[in-house]
Amino acid sequence: MNYSVRSYRSASGQGAGAMVDGFGRRIEYLRISVTDKCNLRCVYCMPEEGLPWLRRAEILTYEEITEVVRVMARKGLRKLRLTGGEPLVRKDLPRLVDQLAAVPGIENIALSTNAVLLAPVARRLRDAGVSRVNISLDSLRPERADTIARRPGTLARVLEGLDAAHAVGFDPIKINVVLMRGENDDEVADFAELSRTRPLHVRFIEVMPTESNLELSASGFLSCDEALARVREVDALEPVQGPPGNGPATYFSFPGAQGTIGVITPMSHNFCDRCNRMRLTADGQLRPCLFGTIQTPLRDALRRGDALEPLIDETLRIKPEKHLLVQGSSEGSGGLIALSQTGG
Ligand code: 5AD
Ligand code: SF4
Repeated sequence: MNYSVRSYRSASGQGAGAMVDGFGRRIEYLRISVTDKCNLRCVYCMPEEGLPWLRRAEILTYEEITEVVRVMARKGLRKLRLTGGEPLVRKDLPRLVDQLAAVPGIENIALSTNAVLLAPVARRLRDAGVSRVNISLDSLRPERADTIARRPGTLARVLEGLDAAHAVGFDPIKINVVLMRGENDDEVADFAELSRTRPLHVRFIEVMPTESNLELSASGFLSCDEALARVREVDALEPVQGPPGNGPATYFSFPGAQGTIGVITPMSHNFCDRCNRMRLTADGQLRPCLFGTIQTPLRDALRRGDALEPLIDETLRIKPEKHLLVQGSSEGSGGLIALSQTGG
């Protein structure tokens, strides 16, 4: 794969056909939602009864996803992240990774998962070409983790998945913690401690409002500034570069720690000016922003064999400057019920 990546570059020339949006941001990162389904029901994400799931025929096949990536890679796409819902509930995900890793130009493939199903497939995923994983975990207390995920036995399985992630050598491994006042805010320091003795990157995320979490995202909102203040009560934090990645996190570390502590602040400090990404939903909508209503359906064009490039160019052109989320309101979310619908 290395050889083909290099030869592709010299053949096409750096920057040829690069994807640059109307605000001068270079887009080289695509988040691909491979399914809208999930095996958990995290309180900030999905309603307990689930969502009206997409039908099988509505979901892009692995071949269709790979075709979209192939076209975008010719235009400068370099990095991919597989998300869901929960990506590991889709059958034979490593087969998709095999295909994506073979696309000329693709340099990096990452996975966002709740890790419940990770242990048995971790090695296969790593061999196929996934190098980095983000694991969602919102409590280190078994009962509480189950309550937040609304599924029994969650914490033990996530920790098994985390151990497997270490064992097969994913690097970096990041833990995503969604901050919720009254639910897990008393665990902020415990999560931070994980980064001291393990090469783990713990990231606190401000909860974003969707149609299904309005109460929680209003009354349970906790800013990353407040979380960091609590961590600083334990020990000093120094700003650090942080692990490689594509995201909007800002990183700190305890003195001498092996890992880092990151914050992702979609609500309190907007980072849209650094946005480098687009999203592909499970049903083939190309979305230039996580929120809002702008999306371009690629699926029918794909199935008709029409050229995708004009659709991609147009989506890039209309990529909004920033999201318009307002704390405590679903306004600005574009009627999104859950982030699992667009890949988080
Ligand atoms: N606000 C903030 N983060 C969310 N996630 C899912 N829904 C929300 C929300 N409403 C997180 C998950 C996962 C990541 C992909 O997005 O916990 O870590
Ligand atoms: Fe599933 Fe992730 Fe949503 Fe939790 S946050 S319900 S693990 S998609």
